[in-house]
Amino acid sequence: MKFAIIYGSVRTARQGIKAAKFIKNKFEEKGHQVTLIDPLEKKLPLLDLKYEEFPEGEAPASMKEISKILTDAEGFLIVTGEYNHDAPPALKNMIDHFMREYLYKPSGIISYSAGSFGGVRAATHLRDVLAELGMSSIPTTFPISKVQDSFDENGNAVDDAYNRRVEKFIKEFEWYAEALKEARSKGTP
Ligand SMILES: Cc1cc2nc3c(=O)[nH]c(=O)nc-3n(C[C@H](O)[C@H](O)[C@H](O)COP(=O)(O)O)c2cc1C
Repeated sequence: MKFAIIYGSVRTARQGIKAAKFIKNKFEEKGHQVTLIDPLEKKLPLLDLKYEEFPEGEAPASMKEISKILTDAEGFLIVTGEYNHDAPPALKNMIDHFMREYLYKPSGIISYSAGSFGGVRAATHLRDVLAELGMSSIPTTFPISKVQDSFDENGNAVDDAYNRRVEKFIKEFEWYAEALKEARSKGTP
């Protein structure tokens, strides 16, 4: 299936990119096509007009490109850090630029932090946002503690426990993605 990773840190010393690469690798190992949307590369402006509010053909190229990736995706993997108990602003900014692209598809939350709690407070806040956008999150989340020490630069897990734990998350996400794909094929409300 086709999935998009929405990642949200633009810090120079960002660590979460390693978690995003880990998730990308793991879903690709299962045969899925995964596109990582990186706000540092796409350089979206702070929200003024949402993508759909631009007159035809006038949206920035990066926005058009992201819209196409999101439209093609059959599910969204949200990789979020935790800044002051909430999602990073670049992640929220990216998510808010789009709307219709998300509808009737599942999302899964991968949260991380430098400490022990794995960004779970940001994940809890995000559930509301994702539901509002029509991409309700699956029950299982994938929290990652000590993100800076948990993966190498290519996203390989240092602790093998992550390789085992991610299997359940993937299986559940696939189930929802397949179920909603089937349901969308019969029409949407
Ligand atoms: C503005 C800011 C706020 C933070 N707030 C929290 C927090 O509330 N809880 C936490 O566990 N870590 C917090 N941290 C530490 C982050 O978990 C850690 O820096 C992590 O690497 C950030 O993700 P990034 O490197 O992908 O940007 C904060 C970091 C920053 C920069």
